[in-house]
Amino acid sequence: MELGAAVARAVKPGTVLALIGELGTGKTHFVKGFCQALGVKETVTSPTFVLLKQYSSPTARINHLDLYRVQGDLEALGFGFEDLLSPEAYTLIEWAERLTVLLPPQALILTISHDGEQTRTISLPDQLYTILRG
Ligand SMILES: Nc1ncnc2c1ncn2[C@@H]1O[C@H](COP(=O)(O)OP(=O)(O)O)[C@@H](O)[C@H]1O
Ligand SMILES: [Mg+2]
Repeated sequence: MELGAAVARAVKPGTVLALIGELGTGKTHFVKGFCQALGVKETVTSPTFVLLKQYSSPTARINHLDLYRVQGDLEALGFGFEDLLSPEAYTLIEWAERLTVLLPPQALILTISHDGEQTRTISLPDQLYTILRG
């Protein structure tokens, strides 16, 4: 959640974050921290059963997708994935590996892996790492 918050403060609207990692690695918790930092008051939960949740605060709009149940690009096209991407909104995608050609080329890819019950390894793209280090 702290990392999600730090990333939220570092990126601009229009940013697409692809969160890749097995079930239970902390993708949704990252989104929780991200949304909180942007002033979202609603509780952020995993949208697994609804594919998409949208949150807003006075200063931000956030699309939160969970593509666990999506077969691929065609199915994502079917629910209007491309129409969600807007320069004004932040888009965070759990199970973004379900997409191939539809994943926007500018998407920042974060991978999370389980090291143990309490520890995770999170890999960030260089450009994000550089911004976060200041
Ligand atoms: N960085 C972390 N370190 C330790 N536990 C974590 C971490 N991130 C999440 N968890 C725990 O792992 C579980 C699954 O988190 P969740 O965010 O729902 O994962 P995902 O969305 O990847 O399935 C939760 O019980 C959460 O408390
Ligand atoms: Mg999740």
